[in-house]
Amino acid sequence: TTVEWEAASYDMGGHDTYMHKEIHEQAEAVDRVLRGRIDDRFSTVHLGGLNLDARDARAVRRVKILGCGTSYHAGQIGAQMIEELARIPADAEPASEFRYRNAVVDPDTLYIAVSQSGETYDVLAAVQELKRKGARVLGIVNVVGSAIAREADGGMYVHAGPEVCVVSTKCFTNTCVAFALLALHLGRTRDLSVRDGKRIIEGLRKLPAQIAEMLEQEEDVKKLAAQYADARSMLFIGRVRGYPVAREASLKLKEVSYIHAEAYPASELKHGPLALIEPALPTVAIVPDDDLLEKNRAAMEEIKARSGQILAVAHREQEKADHTIVVPKNEDELDPILMGIPLQLLAYHTALALGRDIDKPRNLAKSVTVE
Ligand code: G6P
Repeated sequence: TTVEWEAASYDMGGHDTYMHKEIHEQAEAVDRVLRGRIDDRFSTVHLGGLNLDARDARAVRRVKILGCGTSYHAGQIGAQMIEELARIPADAEPASEFRYRNAVVDPDTLYIAVSQSGETYDVLAAVQELKRKGARVLGIVNVVGSAIAREADGGMYVHAGPEVCVVSTKCFTNTCVAFALLALHLGRTRDLSVRDGKRIIEGLRKLPAQIAEMLEQEEDVKKLAAQYADARSMLFIGRVRGYPVAREASLKLKEVSYIHAEAYPASELKHGPLALIEPALPTVAIVPDDDLLEKNRAAMEEIKARSGQILAVAHREQEKADHTIVVPKNEDELDPILMGIPLQLLAYHTALALGRDIDKPRNLAKSVTVE
């Protein structure tokens, strides 16, 4: 596959930037991560490279996910999917923090290293430290044959294809889908029912068409970006499934547009960020149609009461918001995958309006292979 990547995929294909090209490749990329893995007969997935048999999978008591930057955020979404679908306690942590805090390494924990490049030094060093202590480590990696892929005991390739823009988009989405597959697999070795397995599989199959539908709204998002491009700072809020989406969207905006952005759990607004709300600080609210919708509406009301502007990303028009980007609804557990996509476009068009160097933001590198 490394060879296949060479010729065709580095072509800009009529796009002005790799970021734009890579955002638009997502429907196709998601199709690739799903391909050949779904097992309809048992409502599960085949993940041959995991090196984890059913007995090993059942013995996992915790899951710890390690990554940096965007991969860390994909890991946060993955941790929630694993908890929800497999009911295994799971959390994500920056690999750089983990490796310096002399963490307790537990033999019943499954460690998962996430990396687009498979070469990020802090992630690799965390994997090596874990293996030295006898832990089982899986890799969720994009680049085939990379250092982390080689070092791990097993894992999954996310098959996003080459990602050239420093700012990660399609690889983030594919990594989230890879986590959904893993969560489904772990779930079906435990208590996830056939019916719920089917429900998730149907949801996964809908993703490519829904992504394509989402990307058709680009012109609308571009108009919104023009309105928000003069903001000095932006707040991103979400709850539970929406919170890692808010964190990733905030990272995207700051990396590529250099606008300061901060993500906060919507539930924590009253413990600090409300003090910042004024017309000059717009808020992006991630508002999925799930059991927390009413809570999220209340948070938007708090912001409106203080004259804050709101851009909602939701499954239907939000009357509390000044603008809503409507995203197609999938299964609750899979919604985070789609909700991040319009915010990639928002970051892209904001950066474009500001004349930024989109594929190579200042001071950043595609992969950080040094300490
Ligand atoms: C750098 C890049 C980010 C990326 C992070 C982790 O900071 O600029 O876009 O998310 O490294 O990279 P990885 O290859 O490990 O996913």
